[in-house]
Amino acid sequence: DWNMPDYIAEAVESIRQQVGSDEVILGLSGGVDSSVAAALIHHAIGDQLTCVFVDHGLLRLDEGKMVMEMFAQNLGVKVIHVDATAQFMGHLAGVTDPEAKRKIIGREFVEVFQVESAKLQNAKWLAQGTIYPDVIESAGKGKNAAHTIKSHHNVGGLPETLNLKLLEPLRELFKDEVRKLGVALGLPHAMVYRHPFPGPGLGVRILGEVKKEFADLLRRADAIFIEELRNTKDDNDESWYDKTSQAFAVFLPVKSVGVMGDGRTYEYVVALRAVQTQDFMTAHWAHLPHELLGRVSNRIINEVRGINRVVYDISGKPPATIEWE
Ligand code: XMP
Repeated sequence: DWNMPDYIAEAVESIRQQVGSDEVILGLSGGVDSSVAAALIHHAIGDQLTCVFVDHGLLRLDEGKMVMEMFAQNLGVKVIHVDATAQFMGHLAGVTDPEAKRKIIGREFVEVFQVESAKLQNAKWLAQGTIYPDVIESAGKGKNAAHTIKSHHNVGGLPETLNLKLLEPLRELFKDEVRKLGVALGLPHAMVYRHPFPGPGLGVRILGEVKKEFADLLRRADAIFIEELRNTKDDNDESWYDKTSQAFAVFLPVKSVGVMGDGRTYEYVVALRAVQTQDFMTAHWAHLPHELLGRVSNRIINEVRGINRVVYDISGKPPATIEWE
């Protein structure tokens, strides 16, 4: 258990010793781990760090803008923002198999990152937000069936062919320590305590073929759900966002009939998923209040043209998984 100011001082010293005057690159995903790693390394070596933020077009609403605001504007970190939406959508066109989709997203991610990092010719180090549980997990790969059901991809999975030395300043920390470190480094509390978001992003929350049109609808529905969860506070000042481990909307490429005003509609369905879990290996569906679910459903149907039906997922893990793909 670390005292954060001491930890920061020690980590800064060790990062400076390791990299000297070399340049470092880091793949920023918007997630907690890579964000905290970026803030820490920037704190240590300033402009010797360049972050590459690949937007695959499968991020949450305004996520790209938020990452750029927080790092480039507020913290003054050098960030290269690559909008690779067209490239990802192009490669995903016509692909419906969940594993095939994951592989494509992972592969294209590495491809884009490699192209960008090759432009930074002086970079000698690749920084990653690897945390202690990742170290343990990859040491025991294959032993745990629940972890090998889906091929996981995240920005930590960059290839050795980059020929860079690895800088992993969070390797000894657990998630709660990473969060404390993030707050101590000045990252916003809401960002540091965000629910986890999978590397393939909305790609695994749009069932079947991924299309930009679907991603745009899903992003808006998801933002409404999250906003309403955050807007509930109980007597302990805890919201349903705090009380759930993960909550999100899923796009179902199925049309059903509805009625709006005098007219008949024939539009898509969104499923809401909210779970409570300690370790993400097993999970319970969250017993959200019916009024809250009703409010979310009304808002999505009224505000997101193209969605006329909202359903709630009441499946536990196992036998269901948390994500739908
Ligand atoms: P499942 O759906 O397998 O998810 O119950 C368990 C946890 O893992 C997350 N997840 C991923 N995270 N890359 C990631 O970084 C992935 O490919 C991936 N797939 C699932 C999921 O969001 C949940 O927290």
